[in-house]
Amino acid sequence: MQVTMTVNGEEVTREIEGRLLLVHFLRDHLALTGTHWGCDTSNCGTCVVWLDGEPVKSCTVLAAMAGGHDVTTVEGLARGGELDPVQRGFMECHGLQCGFCTPGMMMTARALLDRNPDPSAGEIREAISGQICRCTGYATIVRSIQWAAAEEAGTRTTLAADDDDDADADYGAVTAEAESVPAGGSAS
Ligand code: FES
Ligand code: FES
Repeated sequence: MQVTMTVNGEEVTREIEGRLLLVHFLRDHLALTGTHWGCDTSNCGTCVVWLDGEPVKSCTVLAAMAGGHDVTTVEGLARGGELDPVQRGFMECHGLQCGFCTPGMMMTARALLDRNPDPSAGEIREAISGQICRCTGYATIVRSIQWAAAEEAGTRTTLAADDDDDADADYGAVTAEAESVPAGGSAS
């Protein structure tokens, strides 16, 4: 069967099998390998993309179901050569280690900040509760998203990647709040 959808603002048409999952369509047919494939059982959330602006686990969506819709992947997050503040936040606050969960985390984070520009640590943890990170312990992910929120609000004061002491001072309270809420991890 033939499917046509808009991916990162570009219309694409491909011949596919009806059973093909969206995650495999993106990775194998469009070479958009930023979207990762982890558990294939709707648990890990590393495959999160947006379908018409809403985060979805692309291993739970048939590519055919995305026909006629807008899909955004992590490759579509940067605009005009500029990284999204969420992407910069993950860089500044060490929100990743191996990076496997990172694309999905960033897609969920961007969607969260678009509807709630000033989320609490608890709200961030709830938003990412369907996604698993095996490396970071989640605190730096929460901090990264808070960095992006502050950057967009113009309230960020100091956080230099080359000055960890200042970073720790600025985010000490934030971290304490971030670590006071249990991390999510099961599918939502
Ligand atoms: S690969 Fe989709 S939730 Fe794990
Ligand atoms: S950074 Fe390794 S799984 Fe999250």
